[in-house]
Amino acid sequence: MLWLMRVSGFFSAAMVVIVLSPSLQSFPPAEAIRSSHFESYLRFSSQVPASGVPGPRFAFRQASPFNNAAECGASAGDSTVCDPAIVHIAITLDEEYLRGSIAAVHSVLQHAFCPENVFFHFLVLDTSLESLVRTAFPRLRFKVYYFDPEKVRGLISTSVRQALEQPLNYARNYLADMLEPCVRRVIYLDSDLVVVDDIAKLWRTDLGGRTVGAPEYCHANFTRYFTQRFWSDPKLAGTFSGRRPCYFNTGVMVIDLDRWRMSGYTRRIERWMEVQKGVGAGDALSGRIYELGSLPPFLLVFAGHVAPIEHRWNQHGLGGDNVRGSCRDLHPGPVSLLHWSGSGKPWARLDSNRPCPLDALWAPYDLYGRTR
Ligand SMILES: *[C@@H]1O[C@H](CO)[C@@H](O)[C@H](O)[C@H]1NC(C)=O
Repeated sequence: MLWLMRVSGFFSAAMVVIVLSPSLQSFPPAEAIRSSHFESYLRFSSQVPASGVPGPRFAFRQASPFNNAAECGASAGDSTVCDPAIVHIAITLDEEYLRGSIAAVHSVLQHAFCPENVFFHFLVLDTSLESLVRTAFPRLRFKVYYFDPEKVRGLISTSVRQALEQPLNYARNYLADMLEPCVRRVIYLDSDLVVVDDIAKLWRTDLGGRTVGAPEYCHANFTRYFTQRFWSDPKLAGTFSGRRPCYFNTGVMVIDLDRWRMSGYTRRIERWMEVQKGVGAGDALSGRIYELGSLPPFLLVFAGHVAPIEHRWNQHGLGGDNVRGSCRDLHPGPVSLLHWSGSGKPWARLDSNRPCPLDALWAPYDLYGRTR
């Protein structure tokens, strides 16, 4: 009920216009910008008509204010990140998926019973995005972390989709190092999803002593995530002996950072990336062992050891396949989080007037659009 009231409040609230900051319009023509959609959106936002009369502007609006329910107790205000009452969420913020990340944050706030207790950790390549977040969510508790792409530059191998090769996709491997030591648990979220339930429920998940919690899919064909070469070499495939590996999606994870730090999982993931990339001359294991991006190293280290989380927390695959124009339906069962994983993104399909039916569920959280 409460969230329904918030949503309607959102629609009636006066919208404050946030024109993209000039720094946003001056991205290096880097490989970072691969989406033609984003290029056009930058072009629109910096459009200055020859007539001198302001033309249509595309910009992020300010979200309506959010407040804790009375039952949340006294708000911790703007005290430090170490406040034990805080729910920590990590999410990347990059030029290409900016619109998705902002919608994801918006959705979390809309549905949280205690939104003032949520703290966002934004992983970025461009720290100037901080001002955009601040204008969209003036009272948000958050911190921006610069992720140095050099950390992974030599470790990223080519994959089936170019989008999977972005350095920021690998930032999730380094959360335990980047976040303050007092942050002992974090929820990692991808940028192409919306949360439609109280995030605190996911936060309270019992990990049963495991390091990573995520919905598992034990009926998926696990073999296909690795190459023939991997499965035919006992030294490689033997990594899964003694466990029953199941596929899980790394776009929604609850991570026990204390355990991660103690066991040095970042290094273990890097080690698999080195094997794939052939880093380390004379290494007998070197060679291609998978075709996807940041996911397979996670499967190698954690599959069979994850704490299973209810499937409602990752209704994934809604992105479908843009090339074939296919739309996916929801999996049976309740829904707490909708995830447009796959190559199609709801904002791109909505903009091109060819949305999938479920894209309508993403649209209410979009803060980006024509402002006049
Ligand atoms: C699983 O995938 C592999 C590799 O793509 C294939 O060879 C195998 O037949 C599949 N197994 C099943 C049960 O579908």
